[in-house]
Amino acid sequence: MPHKVIAGNWKMNGAQTALSEIAAISLVAGSLTCKTILCPPTTLTHLAVGMVDSIGIGGQNCHHELEGPHTGDISAEMIAEAGAQYVIVGHSERRENHGETDALVQAKAKAALRAGLMPIICIGETLSQREDGQAISVVSTQFIMSVPTQANIIIAYEPVWAIGTGVLPSLAQITKMHDVIRALLIKTYGKQGESVPILYGGSVKPNNAQGIFGVANVNGALVGGASLKASDFIPIMQALSDS
Ligand code: PGA
Repeated sequence: MPHKVIAGNWKMNGAQTALSEIAAISLVAGSLTCKTILCPPTTLTHLAVGMVDSIGIGGQNCHHELEGPHTGDISAEMIAEAGAQYVIVGHSERRENHGETDALVQAKAKAALRAGLMPIICIGETLSQREDGQAISVVSTQFIMSVPTQANIIIAYEPVWAIGTGVLPSLAQITKMHDVIRALLIKTYGKQGESVPILYGGSVKPNNAQGIFGVANVNGALVGGASLKASDFIPIMQALSDS
């Protein structure tokens, strides 16, 4: 069985005043049956690492190269040196806003593994792709082209149209896609593919988490907006732990 994983993606939110939220989340995380990960902005990585013991800290993106003339970028090794253990790669906001291709996402996932980080690899279709009946083929292609050869990864299925919109796919739609991803994981990694966590992401909230976590092959969630406040995130963590 895959580990249950709940990951918070703070995106470009959070100043040092938000560290109290991380402390509150960490206090609860130790007593739960799931792994909790928080990905604050890079400016908080080192501080966050220093104040938690029961949650993992992750970056939100990394460059695929070790070092070099890439102003404003940060390597996976630098994120690891700051004490993080995870890094999100291929989030749809990076794919859209920064033109990241599947090949680049795969290079970033490999860089993460090179640095000893576990990549959280995001895949997901847009609304028009779903309306055109292309959701499964788009996500399958993204998966095949974005994953590295090692199975030491976490997959996050995030339909772009559900991110930050309050719109949730039906449980049947989530079930179908997670089953497809599990089959792809097993095809790619054999037995190891059975234990790679598949997270659902997109408008996960305290009031819908329990239903989502009841879906087969949903092993947790990648949570944006509702991870910013401990009072929202903790009930979601608890729902996963109880599932
Ligand atoms: P959301 O974001 O929970 O705010 O919809 C999810 C994500 O982008 O990872």
